[in-house]
Amino acid sequence: MPSKSKTYDDSSDESGDLNTSNYLNPTENDEVQTEEHKDNIDKYADDFAGKNDVNDEDNENQLYQPMPQPKTKRVKPSKRRYTQKKRFMFKKTTSKQLQFNCKKFLKYFASENNVYGIYHDIYDTTYGEISIDSISNIFNNIDYDKTDVLYDLGSGRGQFIYYCNFVYNLSTVGIEIINERYNVAKNIGIKIKLQKNKLSDEISIFKNKANNQSITFILDDFNNVDFSDGTIFYLCNTIWGDDTTNKILQKIIDESDNLKHIIITTNTKTPPDNIFLDKIIRCSFSWSENSKVYIYSVN
Ligand SMILES: C[S@@+](CC[C@H](N)C(=O)[O-])C[C@H]1O[C@@H](n2cnc3c(N)ncnc32)[C@H](O)[C@@H]1O
Repeated sequence: MPSKSKTYDDSSDESGDLNTSNYLNPTENDEVQTEEHKDNIDKYADDFAGKNDVNDEDNENQLYQPMPQPKTKRVKPSKRRYTQKKRFMFKKTTSKQLQFNCKKFLKYFASENNVYGIYHDIYDTTYGEISIDSISNIFNNIDYDKTDVLYDLGSGRGQFIYYCNFVYNLSTVGIEIINERYNVAKNIGIKIKLQKNKLSDEISIFKNKANNQSITFILDDFNNVDFSDGTIFYLCNTIWGDDTTNKILQKIIDESDNLKHIIITTNTKTPPDNIFLDKIIRCSFSWSENSKVYIYSVN
């Protein structure tokens, strides 16, 4: 379990945090975010094409041994499909180890519809995302294992959910209220040929056969969803305000049977009892390269 000593340092200034006034201005902000997002996509596209690589060939040769090609041995069709799936998102390093192929992963998101600029009549659904290269900072600071179930409350197009499943081997659940974003998340699972356990307009459950963990997307208001199996919760709550944040934190505490951590991107002045602020770390997001992230643990 993480240390309960409050080792965080909150004395630094707020300069890394979101400029809320820009964020709340949908028209102006939307353009800015869309451009930033495109820049990211261009960057990843270049990465994928190898334009940003330095001596990439040498590195890749060291990292990834080519998959041994079957010569004459006939592979059963079902097994062949699975092998192709693994090669698609993972590359073999040894006969047993698989290396996650991040560039390919990001390319799938880059080719999906724009998820920005879609609003809801009750909730603030302004869009932004955590950068996947800072997700390791979260996992380096929490306690987790393969029995954990990670929830992303407001999962958007599901990049965080897929990444945490593929890289950290967790069962993941994303809840999103905007139909278009839920559909993008669902379509990625179909495109990358994950095993479909259930697909409908409101719930999509995939299984990643590489780690045997599930990836679930739910189209709903997260206030309506039962959190009992969740152990780690992530909320990109930057513009939700204290009331919404506190209400959802209390719901998590009340419902989760085995709560370990709640990770939020904006702190609340009055967190509920039963949890304590364990760490403050820094992560990059689509709106800021250096923003505070607050990790709560259970008392
Ligand atoms: C800032 S985005 C975060 C996306 C993703 N979690 C990430 O960090 O990369 C917040 C998302 O929460 C969704 N959202 C807001 N209120 C919601 C609610 N009550 N129920 C479900 N989703 C909600 C928005 O539509 C939006 O897609």
